[in-house]
Amino acid sequence: MNLRILSGTANPSLAAAVARELGIQVTPCKVERFPDGELRPTVGSVRDDDVYVVQSTGPPVNDHLVELLLLLDACQRGGAGRITAVMPYMGYGRQDRRKAPGDSVGAHVAARTIALCGTSRVIVVDPHSASVETMFDVPVERLTAVPVLAGALHGAIPEDAVVVSPDLGAVKLAEHYGELLDRKAAIVRKTRQSGSEVQAEEVIGEVAGKPAIIVDDMITTGSTVVAAARALLERGARRGVVVAATHGVLVQPDIDELATLPTTRLLVTDSLTPPDASPVPLEVVSIAPLLADAISRLHWQRPLDDLMSRT
Ligand code: R5P
Repeated sequence: MNLRILSGTANPSLAAAVARELGIQVTPCKVERFPDGELRPTVGSVRDDDVYVVQSTGPPVNDHLVELLLLLDACQRGGAGRITAVMPYMGYGRQDRRKAPGDSVGAHVAARTIALCGTSRVIVVDPHSASVETMFDVPVERLTAVPVLAGALHGAIPEDAVVVSPDLGAVKLAEHYGELLDRKAAIVRKTRQSGSEVQAEEVIGEVAGKPAIIVDDMITTGSTVVAAARALLERGARRGVVVAATHGVLVQPDIDELATLPTTRLLVTDSLTPPDASPVPLEVVSIAPLLADAISRLHWQRPLDDLMSRT
């Protein structure tokens, strides 16, 4: 089977970088948008090919998700031999359970519909929760960008720096960073009042007098990171907080709050197209080599174990 990379409109530059790493061209496809908002993708020839459709489902989440579904369907109808949905960032990933009676489970709905469109396999990077794997009826490769981001931090962080998980959900991620950077980990316990309001309740671990590196799977409105940084500074952490997150969703209403932090560095990957304007300068680290490596191994049927998330 020929290897093919197709790209939706969410992050074409990442898809192009992945294809470059693999030494191939992105297979042309066109996504037409009708005046009423409907989308109609048309893909090039994919018959009998091993096709990887690269499309993060970040904002606008619903448009990007539907576009992905239509692209997958177009590949299926075009007779692709095998179709892999490559979602570096998976929207709806945080809706992995009901929080109250009457809720839906958005991650499950997204997973089921993606699998229904002829997808044989899914690749995601640092999904919000490992449970997302159980929601798909097809194999899921959960890659991690932690080594990529830790590599960008390595050598530029003080000896006494402490890696901080800004909530209980990111503890394993912080431990992974701590191991790679050879630094101790601390935890901020947070509660969430709404999509953009969080409260840092307590800091677990020794942070006084130390520089903090806050790590998370994603920064959406920035409220988690801001609350954690303030709690750390109140506990005597040194100014000059470093923040690293795999996915820089970076949406309002609170993202400008990031500018109020004494941050020295804010690192994200290119799992999402970086916004034109960011409240603080972003350092964007590419995951194209990681994705290309994973795609190459899947294509040639080699194991991915060392690329996988530990969460
Ligand atoms: C939540 O559990 C996630 O790991 C992130 O901490 C959260 O989604 C970030 O969202 P925000 O930036 O809006 O606080």
